[in-house]
Amino acid sequence: MLEIKKLINILALSILINVTSCEKVFKSVPVIFKIYENETVLIPCYIDDNETVVRVRWYKNDKLLGDTLDQHHLLPPRIRMHANYSLQVDALGAHDTADYTCEVVRPEPWGPIKQTHSIEVQCSPTVRTIPEDGFLEVRKGEYVDIGCEATGTPKPTFEWRKNGEPMALLEHRARIKFRAEHRLLAGVYECTASNGVGDPVRAAIRVIIQDAPVVKVDRSFVHTAVGLRAALVATLEFAAPPANTAWFRDGSPVKTDDRIVIMVQENHHQLIFRSVRKSDFGNYTFRAENKLGMADVSFKLTGIPNVASFKVDHALNKATATSFTLIWEVDSYSTIIEYNLWIRPYYGRLVSAEPDALTTVPQENSWSKIVVPGDSSDGPIHSASYTVRGLTPSTVYEAIVTSRNRFGWSKPSAVLHFATEPGAGRTLPSTSSDYTDFTPTLEEPESDQPQNITQAYVFERLNELPMSDAGTREKFDSVAILMLFVPSFLITFS
Ligand SMILES: *[C@@H]1O[C@H](CO)[C@@H](O)[C@H](O)[C@H]1NC(C)=O
Ligand SMILES: *[C@@H]1O[C@H](CO)[C@@H](O)[C@H](O)[C@H]1NC(C)=O
Ligand SMILES: *[C@@H]1O[C@H](CO)[C@@H](O)[C@H](O)[C@H]1NC(C)=O
Ligand SMILES: *[C@@H]1O[C@H](CO)[C@@H](O)[C@H](O)[C@H]1NC(C)=O
Ligand SMILES: *[C@@H]1O[C@H](CO)[C@@H](O)[C@H](O)[C@H]1NC(C)=O
Repeated sequence: MLEIKKLINILALSILINVTSCEKVFKSVPVIFKIYENETVLIPCYIDDNETVVRVRWYKNDKLLGDTLDQHHLLPPRIRMHANYSLQVDALGAHDTADYTCEVVRPEPWGPIKQTHSIEVQCSPTVRTIPEDGFLEVRKGEYVDIGCEATGTPKPTFEWRKNGEPMALLEHRARIKFRAEHRLLAGVYECTASNGVGDPVRAAIRVIIQDAPVVKVDRSFVHTAVGLRAALVATLEFAAPPANTAWFRDGSPVKTDDRIVIMVQENHHQLIFRSVRKSDFGNYTFRAENKLGMADVSFKLTGIPNVASFKVDHALNKATATSFTLIWEVDSYSTIIEYNLWIRPYYGRLVSAEPDALTTVPQENSWSKIVVPGDSSDGPIHSASYTVRGLTPSTVYEAIVTSRNRFGWSKPSAVLHFATEPGAGRTLPSTSSDYTDFTPTLEEPESDQPQNITQAYVFERLNELPMSDAGTREKFDSVAILMLFVPSFLITFS
């Protein structure tokens, strides 16, 4: 009883098509049965009671299934024909999806008539990738053509993800085709096929885009000293196909031995000096090369000090109307012989109340160099401070420091901006300092050491060089922070 109810339900669910029943002989109408796997379907072949029926045959697509006049024609397993000619198919499977035709043979002179129904067994999807092995490697500039092929009834639709992120595609397309214009288009492309039956299924294609290698470096200026361990580190960010790598010094491959070794950990390539000798100081290059190109990065292994960094501490800076104490730190494995402090008024002007809305007018000359003696410590961290005197009240200055040890001069520090306190009148800059801690000599610009436009230009240019260590960035940040403390009286500064 329950079984019959189920069948009626299934019939009710079924969708009617094309109601051109032939000659009104059939009481049933053609039906598409959308039925789930393992269920049972009853396909009707109901004929008007007045008709004389000689014979009924059922076909699956064009293949004969059963015949009322040939009882010995065996119906396939799971399929039965009832006395009322209905065809019952049990335990439906995907292979039962087909057209089923009932043919009624009537007495002469009437010809046979047919009615065709369909079964669509609802199947959860299965999916296959294109290419089938789920892997595609193309050169940059070529086309990537990937896709998913799914089975399942009804026909599944696709969603795509790239590296786990949904792709904004307008259609639920099965194929994806694009030009490999950039190596970052490489990744894992995953399709999800779903048709509302069972669980969605996924498949992924890994796309590799071949291009020239990409090499990055964190520290290209490597400060060291004789006897220390030093390492040059290059990061091979990208290499497809894999790159050949090598280390060079002045154009020739670096000779490795027990002391100088090459180490590769994942994509980090290191040239390690277990104990630096003086002869090791110099320029080095790391090179990565594949058939699509080459990338190299340069290093300088040097004994000269690292770039110094100014420290900002309002308690220690002790700003007055005419003086300011600068504090800085530098890494050097050798004694610092001297520092050069370069100071000049900052010709920036505050144009609004916003502290960062500064405009600069073209700089004029006037870098003053102050020579500050180094300390006697071996470091590696050297701290120094110097109080600049004879400054103009309510003025913003900029400062740069360089350091020298026995290997030479460091690169200039980032620019520090500082301001003097408001004060009465203007004091003339003194030409000699009365600050005794370091007994510095304050020098006026000299003609043999141009410190006007040319000097300023050199520094500006130097400051624009790619920053080779993270520390430089930090310094710029601290400059920005200090600027926030520029007092509002500066708005009226001439
Ligand atoms: C159908 O029956 C088979 C075998 O008993 C079973 O593995 C399968 O999960 C069933 N399918 C559904 C949709 O219930
Ligand atoms: C079938 O027979 C009945 C009575 O015997 C009659 O009323 C009806 O019109 C017939 N139908 C057709 C389609 O011939
Ligand atoms: C045809 O026969 C089957 C099996 O006896 C039955 O379940 C079905 O309801 C019948 N159909 C009609 C229209 O009588
Ligand atoms: C190292 O390279 C710099 C420029 O990058 C150059 O000025 C210097 O002369 C080079 N040193 C050696 C030893 O080749
Ligand atoms: C100083 O600046 C002036 C004007 O820009 C320029 O002509 C002159 O050459 C500079 N002096 C030196 C020593 O570079």
